[in-house]
Amino acid sequence: MIPNFKLSNGVEVPAMGLGTFLTKNGEEAARCVCDAVKAGYRSIDTAMIYLNEEGVGKGIKECGIPRNELYLTTKLWNDSHGYEETLRAFDASLKRLGVDYIDEYLIHWPGQEGSFLPTWKAFERLYEEGVIRVIGVCNFIKPVMKELLASCNVSPMVNQIEIHPMFQPDHLIAFCQEQGIQVEAWRPIVWGKLEKEPILQAAAKYRKTPVQITLRWHYQRGVRTVPKTTHYDRMKENMDIFDFSLTEEEMEAIKGLNTYVRTGESPDEFFGMDSF
Ligand SMILES: NC(=O)c1ccc[n+]([C@@H]2O[C@H](COP(=O)([O-])OP(=O)(O)OC[C@H]3O[C@@H](n4cnc5c(N)ncnc54)[C@H](OP(=O)(O)O)[C@@H]3O)[C@@H](O)[C@H]2O)c1
Repeated sequence: MIPNFKLSNGVEVPAMGLGTFLTKNGEEAARCVCDAVKAGYRSIDTAMIYLNEEGVGKGIKECGIPRNELYLTTKLWNDSHGYEETLRAFDASLKRLGVDYIDEYLIHWPGQEGSFLPTWKAFERLYEEGVIRVIGVCNFIKPVMKELLASCNVSPMVNQIEIHPMFQPDHLIAFCQEQGIQVEAWRPIVWGKLEKEPILQAAAKYRKTPVQITLRWHYQRGVRTVPKTTHYDRMKENMDIFDFSLTEEEMEAIKGLNTYVRTGESPDEFFGMDSF
C-alpha cells in the first residue's frame, strides 16, 4: 500500500516509514514495530541515541514478516565519529538490533570540521562488504554535503533533514535531488500541530486530516517521511494518503507557510556530544 522510491544505487525504499524517536525501549518499541507491520509499514527508522534498538530488534523478530521484507534504518551517533569508532558503533548496533545487516545506516549529525570524513570511509567499507544496503547522512547542509561529495568514493544515497510546512529548506532539497540523493524529512508532521488555513482547507476538501494533507504534500515533493507514533490508529491514518492528489495550487499554498524556523537544532551549530 505504501509506494517505493528508488535510490541512486537501485534499492527500492518505502516512501513512508515509522519513526521511533522517543518510543520507549523494550515492550513499547517491539509492539510499535509489530503494529506498524500489521498496518502495512515495511520501513522502521531508529538510531543508537534513541536507546530503543533492542526493542525495535525484538519487534523485527516478533512481527511475523521475514527480515528481508523489512527496511531497517539506524544511525551513528556523534560520539562515534572516526574510522575505527564507526566500525565498533556499527557492530554494537547490529548486536542490539539482533540482525546481521542494516538496510540503511546514516551519519546522525556531521560533527565538527570534517570529522565525518573518516567516518564515511568506514561507511564505504561496510557498504562494500555488503552489511549495509544504503549509506547516507542526516542534517548535512549544502556546504557540508559538497565537502563530502568532493572526497567520497561512494556518494550518499540519502540525506535525512528537518522539513515540514513551517520549515522548508528548498535550496538544500533541490541540491540533493539534483545530485540523486533521496531527501527524507524528519519531524514531518511537527507533532501534529498543523492547524493552518491552507492545510485545513485541503483537509476539508479531501476529507483527510491535516496530518494526512501534510504527509501527502511531502510525498508529492518526492520526499520520504518517517512520522512517529506509538498509536496503531495513527499509524493507519498516517499511511492513508495514497488515494488522492493535491493540486499545484494547494502545494503552492502550503509552501506559503514557510517561516524558516526550525524546531530542532541547527546542523551548523549542533555537535551534540553532551547536549542531546
Ligand atoms: N535524523 C535526525 O536528526 C532526526 C531528528 C528527529 C527525528 N528523526 C526521525 O524522524 C522521526 C519523525 O520525527 P519526530 O518523531 O521528531 O516528529 P513527527 O513524526 O513530526 O511527530 C511525532 C509526534 O506526532 C504525534 N502524531 C503522530 N501521528 C499523529 C497524528 N496522526 N495526529 C496527531 N498527532 C500525531 C506523535 O504522538 P504519538 O506517538 O503519541 O501518537 C508524536 O508526538 C523520528 O521519530 C525519528 O525516527 C530524525
